[in-house]
Amino acid sequence: MFNSVRFRITLWYAAALAVTLALFSVVVYNNLERSLDENLDQLLAVRAEGVADALEAYLETERIEVGRYSASAAKGGAFFKIAPELVRLHTEDPKQAAVELRILDASGAELENSRGSAGAPELPDRTLKDALKGNAVYDTIKISQGEGPEATYRSYATPASGTGGAVYIVQAYRSTYHTQFALKKLRVMMAAMVPLIVLLTGAFGMFFARVALRPVANMARTLRQITAENLSLRIKPPETRDEIRELADLFNAMLARLEDSFLSERRFIQDVSHELKTPLTILKGELEVALKKARSVGEYTAVLQSNLEETEKMSKIVGDLLTLARFDNREVRLERSRVNLKTLLGGAAGSLSGLAEKSGASIELSRAADSIEVEADQGQLGRLFLNLLDNALKYGGPGGKIKVNISMEAGRPAVSVSDSGPGIPAGDLPHIFKRFYRADSSRSSSGFGLGLAIAKSIADAHGAEIKAESPPGQGSTFTVIFPPPQH
Ligand SMILES: Nc1ncnc2c1ncn2[C@@H]1O[C@H](COP(=O)(O)OP(=O)(O)OP(=O)(O)O)[C@@H](O)[C@H]1O
Ligand SMILES: [Mg+2]
Repeated sequence: MFNSVRFRITLWYAAALAVTLALFSVVVYNNLERSLDENLDQLLAVRAEGVADALEAYLETERIEVGRYSASAAKGGAFFKIAPELVRLHTEDPKQAAVELRILDASGAELENSRGSAGAPELPDRTLKDALKGNAVYDTIKISQGEGPEATYRSYATPASGTGGAVYIVQAYRSTYHTQFALKKLRVMMAAMVPLIVLLTGAFGMFFARVALRPVANMARTLRQITAENLSLRIKPPETRDEIRELADLFNAMLARLEDSFLSERRFIQDVSHELKTPLTILKGELEVALKKARSVGEYTAVLQSNLEETEKMSKIVGDLLTLARFDNREVRLERSRVNLKTLLGGAAGSLSGLAEKSGASIELSRAADSIEVEADQGQLGRLFLNLLDNALKYGGPGGKIKVNISMEAGRPAVSVSDSGPGIPAGDLPHIFKRFYRADSSRSSSGFGLGLAIAKSIADAHGAEIKAESPPGQGSTFTVIFPPPQH
């Protein structure tokens, strides 16, 4: 299972998802942390500045009304009436977020505290100095609380100055507990959710990958059953129109080709054995009879002559098969030269003239342009046309008229050999170029059915086409069409 595509796809997918989710979580967490911090800082600043502004306005009014400006006047002065009021106003409003406020004097001593109790984060000296110079300062202050963990506060200090420089410092502060708590909750949730989501998605992924790859599993099951004995088995293609369907179709096409070549191989071996068996049986029978008793020289000669005939037959079959095998293995090297078709066919017809005369047939070069030439192996091409002419003589019947036609067909040299014989039945026509195929099923003819197979191999090697036509009652015509001549 761990080696399956299904598992690997799921694993990769889950890993990618885990990385994406982790990145997403980090970005979300950081953004939230930053915006919470910014919010808090803004809140503190708004509150402190509000109090500071009010305080400044008050001090200004006091200076104008009282006619003097003095911090010491604050002791017991009206300032102490307004300060608690200001702090209360800015902290106790239930509509506002809870922020603590303090007012300190220039020495850092606390004048007012919204909590009214101890435990406020003290401003560091540096902050005090900075604030007295007129700057607003942020601090993160930790206070230890005995046994428990440290409390962390965020603080904002701003000066409230009268006309004579900084007089008071307004500090707004708030515990960061809420922000930390919210962030911690988010951390815990993410730590739990990310692995859970990855696991769940992985499980779904595994399931869907299994559904998607089910046709492949089915294909594998069928393919496992296929042996040489049942090559006819086919994969059931899935209903979909996807890559798997394409694969199934390709497999089926391959199986069909395999079956075809396997069957033809088998048939071929059967045919070869059959063809060789007949002459061998005759040979053996004759020899056995001859050896039974002493014979005269004449009788021996007759037996040997008959033996020679059978041996020649076998030798022709074996020779033809060898030729075909060499063409199949591309071992035949064509010795190409310019071959004049009229000369070549004239020669072939001439060499068969004796045979033609015997059966009262005639071979005629009916239409033949003098100058048509092809680039070809003269010997092999001669053999091709001899096979065609031999068939025309053999099957054209006694007194047949054989016509050879050499012409240019759509710019390609073409030779056709027609006879006036009984023709080839339409059912046999597609098969006659196959090895050992003979149209007359009684196999009464003298041939072995290899002549046209060899002719086709030779035509193929030359890049030429060979075809047979046999309209009913009009004899048969074999045409060889060569590739267009290259100049
Ligand atoms: N001109 C033709 N007229 C009628 N039938 C033909 C003709 N040429 C071929 N055939 C048929 O096609 C079959 C195959 O021909 P092919 O030349 O391959 O074999 P063959 O002539 O029987 O034997 P081989 O050529 O090996 O001596 C023949 O047996 C014959 O039935
Ligand atoms: Mg033949």
